[in-house]
Amino acid sequence: MEKHWKTKLIHSDAKIPEGFRSLNTPVYRASTTLFSDAAAVTDAWDQYESGYTYGLYGTPTTLELAARICELEHGYRTIITPGGQSAISLINLALLRAGDHVLLPESVYGPNRKLGNDVLRRFGVEVSYYEPTIGSQIANAMQPNTRVIWCESPGSITMEVQDVPAIVEAAHAAGALVAMDNTWSAGVYFDALAHGVDVTMQALTKYVGGHSDVLLGSVTAREKEVYQRLGATQQVLGCAASPDDCSLALRGMKTLAVRLEKVEQSALTIARWLATRSEIESILHPALDSCPGHELWKRDFLGSTGVFSIVLRDSFSKQQVHRFVNSLELFRIGYSWGGVTSLAVAYDFGRFKKRALYQHRIVRLNIGLETPEDLMADLKAALILSSQS
Ligand SMILES: Cc1ncc(COP(=O)(O)O)c(C=O)c1O
Repeated sequence: MEKHWKTKLIHSDAKIPEGFRSLNTPVYRASTTLFSDAAAVTDAWDQYESGYTYGLYGTPTTLELAARICELEHGYRTIITPGGQSAISLINLALLRAGDHVLLPESVYGPNRKLGNDVLRRFGVEVSYYEPTIGSQIANAMQPNTRVIWCESPGSITMEVQDVPAIVEAAHAAGALVAMDNTWSAGVYFDALAHGVDVTMQALTKYVGGHSDVLLGSVTAREKEVYQRLGATQQVLGCAASPDDCSLALRGMKTLAVRLEKVEQSALTIARWLATRSEIESILHPALDSCPGHELWKRDFLGSTGVFSIVLRDSFSKQQVHRFVNSLELFRIGYSWGGVTSLAVAYDFGRFKKRALYQHRIVRLNIGLETPEDLMADLKAALILSSQS
């Protein structure tokens, strides 16, 4: 057919050389994906079953990232979400219904708690909390309608390591599923699915992205049945991840091992040095025995990453804790972690009645890729300055 140039803008006959071979996964952006004929049109979400049907359910870029995360976590299948928190929401919305009960550790990531308190309860789900170090005693916190038990190990900020296999055993004995936030271990230093967890999530925003410039999450199911429930819910939630962001995460994955090795070594060096400082009451780093659940970390984990917390000694006022954080030059102040820049954030648990632990004296550190000696010099100067009343 002879085409008008305006039609050619849409239906071009232009040719380019074939055979380009890059080492990287191309960024496939698409809403529309084409069907071979009218009868082939379907709105099925599982692109493994139906072939590609719609960009919302995954393009080759998003599915490549999903498949690679799934490979690392030894799962059945993975779904990529636009952020870690949306991965948490997907799990809760897919696996819970009105009348169900969900259990969360007291140390759970704050917005997971908020989702439970502010949204799930609104939809008739009962939400309660348990001490993260409860282990097999979780059975006492369970109810006949308990359907999901969340684990997060180590816990956010307070870093308690959990006895995940014991929780899994009690949950499965009563027919409940175990969901786990496995972000701290980057999905590789704790093999959650091999320890019996049914569904894991990671904020890929942290170590997989690795450069503080992308928000993404993953949800990995151990078995097909759970994957089907997650996929069907993801379809109607309409939370698709951007293929551009997925390509950044795929790039991040290539350097994940070297970054993890480096931050593990630096964090351990810094944590052990901090433990010798008189300004510090304790170090909440799973590889140090001052961390609640350290023995479980030794039993279950393959390594540690670069996030840990310090508790300043009890003479430190809140102002002094803030002076400590504000005096740091290399450590910057900001949320999220897993990037190349060291970060420090002070938390005040005195505000939370049930979690008054450590009060205003806890500071979470993210160790980045700077030289550890420089980071220690920075911390030392800030500790000396802030301890002077
Ligand atoms: C343990 C943990 N889980 C989940 C999230 C949520 O990730 P995102 O910021 O990608 O929503 C965070 C973010 O800080 C986190 O620390």
